[in-house]
Amino acid sequence: MTHHDTPAERSAALIRDCTNIRPRWAVICGSGLSGLAHALDEQTVFPYESLFGFEPTAVQGHPGRLVLGRLGQEWCAVFQGRTHLYEGKGLEPALAAVRLAHALRIRNICITNAAGALRPPLGAGWLMPFSGHINLCLQRGCALPRGAGIYDPQLREAFLDTALRLGAPAAPGVYALLTGPTYETPAEARAYRILGADAVGMSTVFESMEARRLGLRVLAVSAITNDAVPASTDLPGPSHDAVLECAQQAARNLTAILRELIGAEPAPAPGHGV
Ligand code: HPA
Repeated sequence: MTHHDTPAERSAALIRDCTNIRPRWAVICGSGLSGLAHALDEQTVFPYESLFGFEPTAVQGHPGRLVLGRLGQEWCAVFQGRTHLYEGKGLEPALAAVRLAHALRIRNICITNAAGALRPPLGAGWLMPFSGHINLCLQRGCALPRGAGIYDPQLREAFLDTALRLGAPAAPGVYALLTGPTYETPAEARAYRILGADAVGMSTVFESMEARRLGLRVLAVSAITNDAVPASTDLPGPSHDAVLECAQQAARNLTAILRELIGAEPAPAPGHGV
């Protein structure tokens, strides 16, 4: 397979043939966060079935389409839905969106997810830009140079500044990646907290590593939908419906922040920062 025959290059060629939109930011929407795309003006939609390298998304809350459009002043590629590792299709479909973003010559990506909080102040409705991650899957991601930073500190600070200005609760933290699909037990959640994690979820880490390997600047953000450590072990864990509802609340804040962060001003020329 030559470089131009990769699924990502074929999808990018198809998109360039269909539209003159040349997005400069990509956003991947996690569980219940696809409402972000409603904020886009002048939309052009590509269902994942029409692209190469994507699997149909099987999980509730993940529509499975790429929406190109303008967020404020900036053209964006918003991916509604992702394939998780626990779906058993391997790493390739999980990385399709990131590789397509790269093939579209996009330089900045925001990768989002729904996650459970392990410690205060994080709680339902909070947003957590990643300062790092702990991979608790048995699978490793792509190789990155030793000590390479994955999560862009400038994008994280800009996100936190904007959240503060808009009054949206947000704090940076470390994300623990689980294989899923089931949630952790209370004892596991306590163990992850001791390991140094602030939130737990089942995505984003491999996508972030691949995006960084390909040279994109990465902003990864958890929308906290529940406490992962229950107040009492007698209480049932969160239902997927409750997680989705809370994610929609956080999605409104996330949309407002990204509209400011990404779309507030015309972007400077490539090679000059964000
Ligand atoms: N654990 C793991 N993944 C999650 C959670 C959780 O509590 N909430 C949302 N995604």
